Amino acid sequence: MDVAGSIEAVRSKVGAARRRGERIGLVPTMGALHAGHMSLIETARRSCEYVVVSIFVNPTQFGAGEDLAKYPRSLESDLAMCEESGVDVVFAPSVEEMYGSENLTWVTVEKLTGALCGRFRPGHFRGVTTVCAKLFNIVWADVAFFGQKDAQQAIVIKRMVSDLNMPLEIVVCPTVREASGLAVSSRNKYLGEHEREEAALIYESLRKCREMVESGVDEVKAIIEAMREVLGKSPDIKIEYVEIVDAESLERLERVRGRVLAAAAVRLGAARLIDNIVVDAGRE
Ligand code: PAJ
Repeated sequence: MDVAGSIEAVRSKVGAARRRGERIGLVPTMGALHAGHMSLIETARRSCEYVVVSIFVNPTQFGAGEDLAKYPRSLESDLAMCEESGVDVVFAPSVEEMYGSENLTWVTVEKLTGALCGRFRPGHFRGVTTVCAKLFNIVWADVAFFGQKDAQQAIVIKRMVSDLNMPLEIVVCPTVREASGLAVSSRNKYLGEHEREEAALIYESLRKCREMVESGVDEVKAIIEAMREVLGKSPDIKIEYVEIVDAESLERLERVRGRVLAAAAVRLGAARLIDNIVVDAGRE
């Protein structure tokens, strides 16, 4: 496995693979790799001859007062995990390498970024789309892999790729969960043992939504109320949002129709946790 710190180095490795006619897969990450990232890498490995993993804690997607400074970093064990899973090259650039001394060009996806997390993290998606556009321009991948765990991110990236005619495919992989249902996340490291147990309520609230839709309830207000009640079982969970939106447009709904995204963001101790599921109500 190669490790490239510079744009030039990763381009030269990927260029050689491209000349060999290999299909190139990219898995963008911020490191602190866990089972969720590994499932993306395994999916990439299955469909691509050459797999690139980027590890870059992207400062531009963190807001003031967010956890940039204490975001978990574990490059050495990340590299070992990548090597173990057959990654071909890890691209781990510095902030300076990615952004130079001053970045004046930004990619913004409108509308979709005003919903859900976008309301609480102004500028976050601008940072995500800009860094992903840069990564797509640096690594000429045929396909890039993202997780359903960050559903809005995946939708926004897909839209950017489509609107800007970027020549790659975006594949979205299912959310990997712990046995309790808690979605695996780098930020779970911020949770104490008891908080980790309480965090399972997030998925329980999403399951509640599915159960209600499946039993015929279609009033969004009633479902959200029931979901909030589940989360309310923990006095430590502070709800940021619980929403049910159209799974593609992310627009708010009054009645559940077709494919909907049930999504929640909460604060628990030092962590901000998000999760979601797609429920198909089948009524168009
Ligand atoms: P990061 O949080 O490191 O996540 C990297 C990728 O792993 C994302 O596509 C995310 O959705 C996916 N992922 C995280 N947890 C997962 C889980 N439990 N199951 C399945 N997939 C999971 O998301 C980012 O980094 C950044 O915003 C990035 C796209 C790298 C841009 O900086």
